[in-house]
Amino acid sequence: MTADLFDDVDPDQRSLVLAPGATLLRGFASDAARRLLDEAEAVAAVAPFRRMEKPGGLAMAVAMTNCGTFGWVSDRAGYRYVREDPCTGRPWPPMHACFLSLATAAASCAGYPDFRPDACLINRYAPGTRLSLHQDRDERDFAAPIVSVSLGLPAVFLFGGERRRDRPARVPLRHGDVVVWGGPSRLRFHGVEPVGSGNHPATGAWRVNLTFRMAQ
Ligand code: SIN
Ligand code: FE2
Repeated sequence: MTADLFDDVDPDQRSLVLAPGATLLRGFASDAARRLLDEAEAVAAVAPFRRMEKPGGLAMAVAMTNCGTFGWVSDRAGYRYVREDPCTGRPWPPMHACFLSLATAAASCAGYPDFRPDACLINRYAPGTRLSLHQDRDERDFAAPIVSVSLGLPAVFLFGGERRRDRPARVPLRHGDVVVWGGPSRLRFHGVEPVGSGNHPATGAWRVNLTFRMAQ
């Protein structure tokens, strides 16, 4: 799969299969976007965005926080899900109903009707920030998909194969787009190219991404 493939796609096409088990739902979150962003801000007021430490000691470029029963964290000890925010020692803010309903509806639309996320990682990208290729594999059970909601500045999502060296497809994502990957695509490598500078009416100079997971 190449970027050229996507150039031919009808921009009005609302749903696009990226690979078996992986679907792009164009604009699925457009109507909910304002509420999602307001709620993300409310989460960050309690559990602030922070650049977590990678196991090697360097700070991640992307700023992160979480809501839900579990939150994903990284530090020198590695990657894991925890119930308390290490910055505050308090539980992560609960996952708001608007987050939950958007995530379950998107999963259902992509063929995963039983998705009940217990964790939402909120990523905030400044222009120039990227997320290198990785697999999401800290969850207990890979039967559940990942639901990823893009808000604000556009970005190119890299959707690779099961091996790091597999050349990824370049998938342009815009405000309101949702990508769901699970089943045979659950452990595909993925990442985000450096976000270009810009000023989005909903987020200003940020890209915000919500990734919903079933952690436990
Ligand atoms: C992630 O892999 O956690 C985030 C993907 C994205 O920001 O689109
Ligand atoms: Fe990921």
